[in-house]
Amino acid sequence: FQPQDLSGKSLVITAGPTQEAIDPVRYLSNHSSGKMGFALAQAASERGATVTLIAGPVNLATPAGVNRVDVVSASQMYEAALNSIAGCDVFIGTAAVADYRPSSAADQKIKKDGSGAERTITLIENPDILASIGHHENRPATVIGFAAETQKTEQYAADKLQRKNADAIVANDVSRSDIGFGAANNEVLWVSDQQSVPFGPASKRDVAHFILDQILNLGN
Ligand code: PMT
Repeated sequence: FQPQDLSGKSLVITAGPTQEAIDPVRYLSNHSSGKMGFALAQAASERGATVTLIAGPVNLATPAGVNRVDVVSASQMYEAALNSIAGCDVFIGTAAVADYRPSSAADQKIKKDGSGAERTITLIENPDILASIGHHENRPATVIGFAAETQKTEQYAADKLQRKNADAIVANDVSRSDIGFGAANNEVLWVSDQQSVPFGPASKRDVAHFILDQILNLGN
């Protein structure tokens, strides 16, 4: 049984990867399983929050009581997130959103021409969901991002904190196989203007509760 300390709060959480179509059978994506975002949604719901979970393509069951919106691409996740922020108290961007997408997706499967020549895919930048919400006129009182880093974790997290106008960034090292992408556990650094707080390694459930505790400590 959890304390109902998020009762009356409305949270929007993004989770999982996005898939960016190249043609009807191929896409660009990444290794996010959705576990971290789903653990956050479950923990927040258990603590009494109303939770909307915007999920990229993942193979996970919806936590009890959570309102789930399924999307595929970064553009769809962007739209779903912006459509959900009215009345939202806390936004948490856990999703590994593709930074780029093919400039156009072919209508038909791209065929191999057998010439051995190089093929090029032109990429264009996707909208930044976290930054858009951080700077939005209807910005939720609390906006939390993640940072998937392989080096200079604290410095890059602090950069993202400013650039995306977030209240805190949860940084994790995605070059390790025992934490981060796909793993059952995570080890994070909570970076806000006030302080940097390390937590873990611990189960993603425990990390989720740590993050929710830190959000409550912000007192927004
Ligand atoms: O899903 P799991 O397998 O459990 O793995 C969890 C995780 C490693 C994916 C998670 O802990 C994590 O680090 N998520 C953030 C992944 C990421 O895309 O990080 P980033 O440093 O590229 O992005 C920074 C922040 O901006 C993130 O909050 C991201 O959601 C957001 N973003 C990024 C690009 C974009 N176009 N829109 C965004 O909102």
